[in-house]
Amino acid sequence: MAEQTKTATLTIDGQSYELPIYSPTAGPDVIDIRKLYAQAGVFTYDPGFTSTAACDSTITFIDGDKGELLHRGYPIDQLAGQSHYLEVCYGLLYGELPSAEKLEAFESLVTRHTMIHEQMHMFFRGFRRDAHPMATMVGVVGAMSAFYHDSTDIDDPHQREVASIRLVAKMPTIAAMAYKYSIGQPFVYPRNDLDYAANFLHMCFSVPAEEYNVNPVLARAMDRIFTLHADHEQNASTSTVRLASSSGANPFACVAAGIACLWGPAHGGANQACLEMLKEIGTVERIPEFIARAKDKNDSYRLMGFGHRVYKNFDPRATVLKESADEVLELLGVENNPILQVAKELERQALADPYFAEKKLFPNVDFYSGIILEAMGFPTSMFTPIFAMARTVGWISQWKEQLADPQLKIGRPRQLYLGETARDYIDIENR
Ligand code: CMC
Repeated sequence: MAEQTKTATLTIDGQSYELPIYSPTAGPDVIDIRKLYAQAGVFTYDPGFTSTAACDSTITFIDGDKGELLHRGYPIDQLAGQSHYLEVCYGLLYGELPSAEKLEAFESLVTRHTMIHEQMHMFFRGFRRDAHPMATMVGVVGAMSAFYHDSTDIDDPHQREVASIRLVAKMPTIAAMAYKYSIGQPFVYPRNDLDYAANFLHMCFSVPAEEYNVNPVLARAMDRIFTLHADHEQNASTSTVRLASSSGANPFACVAAGIACLWGPAHGGANQACLEMLKEIGTVERIPEFIARAKDKNDSYRLMGFGHRVYKNFDPRATVLKESADEVLELLGVENNPILQVAKELERQALADPYFAEKKLFPNVDFYSGIILEAMGFPTSMFTPIFAMARTVGWISQWKEQLADPQLKIGRPRQLYLGETARDYIDIENR
């Protein structure tokens, strides 16, 4: 916990209360209100947590005004440009980037945990063919706690470590199996000779009937998508994982809760929603009609893939992915794909529109990741599962950090109750 640097004074009905203020290494000061209810008998009110820090953390920092995202202090553009996903995973999980030796050992460990228990294949077969892969993933990841009993004791540091590695290693296998199942193709086992991203592409796109060679440019773009989604501070799904874990739930259950939260279109589901929106728009000529709807106060319609709760200048992840998108589209020769043309023109028109500039609405990471994944041949239903597998390391790093915190308490928000006060029960005949 940070040192107290200042004090805030809160006055209610003439009575003053002193509240400690802590200064972080970066970002705004925080006022400690933990004793407020005991001292003053009031709660604070902050639906959506727009002004509330729920924990202290050393993992990820975002400055939304500057468009800055740091993992363990390293800027995301440097990590995406010069590092790679598993190295970033190591940094998130253990606090420092690894030496060459430690990285090799870590990569070897992750690679050797990529297979899932053979009996778990039965779970997949229990789902309907047309189940959304996110639904399958929530179920299968939750079910890992039914298989891997030897890594569910959260009080045992060794078991916590094993669970972390298992989740990072097995998530691509589970996501790829969910995909293969949904299209009726055989599951493809992981390959230890391929790197993390190439192995995932291989498990998704190869079939037993013929050889599939992973294109290194696509593997690099895939790895970048993973890196850019690895962690994002206390967002909704991470907060869900932390809240679930605060009760002592096992790591597989907590990550399943995170996957469920990520699914929503305001969060990780935005990449799928964005591509569906582009398909609905259909042609460049119809773009003004959709922009007009997004601007209309009487219409709840929003441009998916635009705007962010924290970034109010630009999303640094989107800047990196925009470059990757150009590279991938050129490589695949799909620049003339009508959906991708709509995307490019929508981006141009929205950025030139004063409404979006005034409200600080810029294309976010989901806008460009959707375009790349579409070009690579993934169906839209796989976009959010890919986000989930990449974010797993962030959830797990935050989970580990929380469990190591001696101040850990079960998360239990309070409320502003506006319902009926106590009243007597009336028999049904007399209501
Ligand atoms: N299209 C049109 N108008 C928008 C949009 C949009 N995409 N996003 C926000 N606005 C308007 C909104 O109507 C409001 O206008 P007014 O002040 O006149 O009422 C203003 O901008 C502020 O919106 P807000 O809902 O108060 O902002 P928020 O910080 O609560 O929401 C958001 C952030 C990401 C949920 C929202 O921008 C949104 O719904 N975007 C579309 C979904 C999306 O792309 N989500 C992915 C986020 S990035 C990936 C991730 O981190 O999960």
